[in-house]
Amino acid sequence: MKNPYLIITVDGTSAVGKGTLSKAIAAKYQLKYLDSGTIYRAAALKLKNSGVQITEQYKATAEHLALLDHSSGWYDFYCISEKHQTYATIVDGKDVSNQLSSEEIAQLASIVSSDPQIRKHMDIFQQAFLSLLEHSPFKGVLLDGRTSGIDIFPEADIKFFITCSNEVKAKRRHLQTGEPEADILASLIKRDAREKLRKAGQVRPADDAIIVDSTNLTIEEVQRLAFNAINNR
Ligand code: DC
Repeated sequence: MKNPYLIITVDGTSAVGKGTLSKAIAAKYQLKYLDSGTIYRAAALKLKNSGVQITEQYKATAEHLALLDHSSGWYDFYCISEKHQTYATIVDGKDVSNQLSSEEIAQLASIVSSDPQIRKHMDIFQQAFLSLLEHSPFKGVLLDGRTSGIDIFPEADIKFFITCSNEVKAKRRHLQTGEPEADILASLIKRDAREKLRKAGQVRPADDAIIVDSTNLTIEEVQRLAFNAINNR
């Protein structure tokens, strides 16, 4: 059956330019933008603030899953600017947007998201956001993720998988966050290696994904390519 809404997934490893592309697609096609990286970062912060030790050996317990229960309302977000697709992230009623972009939280999110139970839990968590579309002006949803075209919305109308060289990724992230490029490069390589080898949510393209290597393309070129693919679907 055809989806009642337009569902687009944009997957790939960290910092390949998924966010910029996703926001542009969401704005152009009036889609609700969901950033799964921010959701995982918020989950890591929630666990950390609850005193959970997050090390490479991390394993989720029933207590951790309960802390991240959708119905408790621990997580929320709202749009600050529709035009620029900027969002504020709320954890336990507090705006934590400016605590989420550090490489420390990125590493914690990467570890937490590699636990199969957390992953299963968060897949369902993200699917539940489809209900936000009811009675909303949005025509669908854009999920910016890692494996969302496989695990979350396998029925998506169109799936993109973006790739990029590590050096270009680090340069782009440095311009965004101001953190030293060498530190970012080392952190990205560590995260990518963990996420490519992990048992759950191994980053890879869906069989029916359109693969775009953004290394030598400008933002505008990537967007043009994506818009053409969406218009011609
Ligand atoms: O996209 P990001 O850098 O904000 O994501 C932070 C971490 O969260 C990333 O290193 C891995 C994890 N993540 C994930 O496992 N699955 C997703 N769909 C999104 C993020």
